[in-house]
Amino acid sequence: MLNAVERKIEQYISELNDAHVLSLYKKLPHGKRLRTKLILKIAGNSLKVIKTASTIEMIHVASLLHDDVIDNANTRRGVISLNSSSGDKTAIMMGDILYSKAFFELCNISSEVARVVSNAVVQLSLGELADVELSKKFHTNRDAYLKMLYQKTASLMEASAESAAILAGKPRYAYRQYGHNLGMAFQMIDDILDITSDSKTLGKPALHDFFEGKVTLPYMYLYEVLGDDDREYLLSLYRKRLSEDEALWIRKSMKKHHIIEKAYLEAKELIHEVINLMESLGESDLSNIAKEMIEREF
Ligand code: IPE
Ligand code: IPE
Ligand code: MG
Ligand code: MG
Ligand code: MG
Repeated sequence: MLNAVERKIEQYISELNDAHVLSLYKKLPHGKRLRTKLILKIAGNSLKVIKTASTIEMIHVASLLHDDVIDNANTRRGVISLNSSSGDKTAIMMGDILYSKAFFELCNISSEVARVVSNAVVQLSLGELADVELSKKFHTNRDAYLKMLYQKTASLMEASAESAAILAGKPRYAYRQYGHNLGMAFQMIDDILDITSDSKTLGKPALHDFFEGKVTLPYMYLYEVLGDDDREYLLSLYRKRLSEDEALWIRKSMKKHHIIEKAYLEAKELIHEVINLMESLGESDLSNIAKEMIEREF
């Protein structure tokens, strides 16, 4: 059924009658298709469901195209990113084309689903903008960080699960809660993997967040436990292109103070809440998706 979604997206892009856009789209590698898997598990595979999953994947890809411009990232999904190969202008406009075509198609699916998804994209954009603002100087504002994280990432997962529930006639608020927690935990783990993993495994730049000014939860926690001298040293690395020794210092300090475990625990708590919720609804496949997500390596 994942194939049906791929084919639907290609059909949507073909309808634009623009050979250049179609060839650019075809060159983009596929991602994990997590949002699609979620939607199909909740709502089955009727044509409306396939169309909804397709529009949400298009929106997700659009958000990544723009995100790589914002984050100055040169790789994505294991290959050179579109902003890097074809320039920011092309990446921005491809993003706009995918967003707009997705909204156009959403209007033909269900006005309720269109409302839920388009509202999430407003949140996503507000979140990406808040991320830019928060990256301008070092901060330890956890509340602002979590709000931004909800907006930029959890809102679209929440909308994916809620839309699927609407289409399937299932209780939408329970599924919305599922998507919310999954999305929050997903981004927390993405932020952890930036520190613990490598570019090859991730298929995108590793140890890139702090360099781009992003003070993710592990960095906030590390700062809080360090003494004055080490704090000063950590601040000196903020936005800096790190040498191997400096990168090692960050990773060692995180290890010494059990920072990664602490951040993981936070993501795990969110996941355990929804595992219980989904078990109570008899949705064991969905609780498995949640379990797999905290164990992922990329
Ligand atoms: C990446 O999302 C952006 C975040 C929200 C962290 P995914 O990790 O789902 O990206 P793909 O689609 O698998 O590449
Ligand atoms: C971006 O978060 C989330 C989006 C809304 C696209 P990140 O900037 O951390 O995502 P990656 O790590 O580049 O995939
Ligand atoms: Mg990014
Ligand atoms: Mg980003
Ligand atoms: Mg990231």
